Amino acid sequence: IADVKGGPNEGLDRVGQTVVVMGWVRTLRLQSSVTFMEVNDGSCLSNMQCVLNPEAEGYDQVDSGSIVTGASVCVQGTIVESQGSKQKVELKVNKIVLVGQSDPSYPMQKKRATREFLRTKAHLRPRTNTFSAVARVRNALAYATHKFFQENGFVWVSSPIITASDCEGAGEQFCVTTLSNECYYASAVMTIILFQDFFGKPAFLTVSGQLNAETYATALSDVYTFGPTFRAENSNTSRHLAEFWMIEPELAFADLNDDMACATAYLQYVVRHILENCKEDMEFFNTWIEKGIIDRLTDVAEKEFVQLTYTDAVELLLKTNKKFEFPVAWGCDLQSEHERYITEEAFGGCPVIIRDYPKEIKAFYMRQNDDGKTVAAMDLLVPRIGELVGGSQREERLGYLEYRLEELKLNKESYWWYLDLRRYGSVPHAGFGVGFERLVQFATGLENIRDTIPFPRSPGSAEF
Ligand code: 4AD
Ligand code: MG
Repeated sequence: IADVKGGPNEGLDRVGQTVVVMGWVRTLRLQSSVTFMEVNDGSCLSNMQCVLNPEAEGYDQVDSGSIVTGASVCVQGTIVESQGSKQKVELKVNKIVLVGQSDPSYPMQKKRATREFLRTKAHLRPRTNTFSAVARVRNALAYATHKFFQENGFVWVSSPIITASDCEGAGEQFCVTTLSNECYYASAVMTIILFQDFFGKPAFLTVSGQLNAETYATALSDVYTFGPTFRAENSNTSRHLAEFWMIEPELAFADLNDDMACATAYLQYVVRHILENCKEDMEFFNTWIEKGIIDRLTDVAEKEFVQLTYTDAVELLLKTNKKFEFPVAWGCDLQSEHERYITEEAFGGCPVIIRDYPKEIKAFYMRQNDDGKTVAAMDLLVPRIGELVGGSQREERLGYLEYRLEELKLNKESYWWYLDLRRYGSVPHAGFGVGFERLVQFATGLENIRDTIPFPRSPGSAEF
């Protein structure tokens, strides 16, 4: 359907051609002498309006009620100019084949089902306008991500999913074990399962590929990872998932300023990409999900981002009359309400980069600033979501890093390979992590992060 209707004149150049459309019936309107059937194949938001006369081969299946909403069909016909106002062209059908019937219990018939309801139907929700549009825009953002880094000379590195280290040190890891050595007692009702230590030491699902990316950056210069990451944080919010995808570039011979410049260029590039390449879907989000999102994203792609230090951000929060649930003081971690105030209210919807956070609230690997109190960290905040990107310049000085590990009572031995990178040809380097689902949320206007990934994983929910 995109092939026919996706061009600049919405299919008018294809008038007179014979085409075959294969897809799923969205609606069926039977009139006395003619039947209108909307078919969607997911290639674009638009349906193909199929006009069926009783002369069409296979029409009896429409007549007998075999072809209904949800059924899959294969339709052959001629592209003709449409009399209707909704589309430029339609398909005058000469043959229709029912490929797969649809049971009357098909739950996607109701128009405007709530997104809460659709979350319980994750296997069928991609057949709706919203979720097919999200899937296409998510795909375009992934494509643009690779395109941006490849065009800028970065090498894509696959970081492991199973790991022994806790990059962020927050203890939010899922444990990996095996289900072998099951002992069944013939007469017992109870089954005892013994967990075997497969890796010889505790292993976890990764919270971040950064430490692994650093090993490749200190050999190939500029690299990035793009893969699934996992966090067992028990936060049932609209911006946290237990399984989410992260994009983590790592730049060698780079400092925090280079890092912020890269994050800005990346975000502007991918936003521009979807505005240019996903026009139909973006119009849909603009109308149905978040009014004005196209204008706001256009601003993001074109305007400079605001930059301020953590210390200035705290000062700004202390000065406002706004009441926050969590009180602010220098040294506190900024909460979502603070981040949103800064980007939405203080700076009118512009993305804001906050830098130089207190070292106590950041991870062990961040480079200490000369003041001894702060680290060269940065968070990029956007309206509605708050933190979209988190990054830093890494501590490349062996002595400082060892001291920090000791200070935090982390097991220095288990970081032997990470410390080696500082022992053999250490270089200033920096990187950041983009939460891919938060990026999809930002780009589509969706309120809940669970609607940005096909099969969301959150506390108490791992069906499908
Ligand atoms: O700020 P975070 O924890 O940074 C890191 O993991 C670094 N190792 C990244 C790096 O420097 N290479 O996470 C990075 C981003 C956050 O800004 C947020 O967008 C996203 O990952 N994120 C989540 N997204 C969805 N659900 C969660 N539970 C998330 N936790 C973090
Ligand atoms: Mg962070």
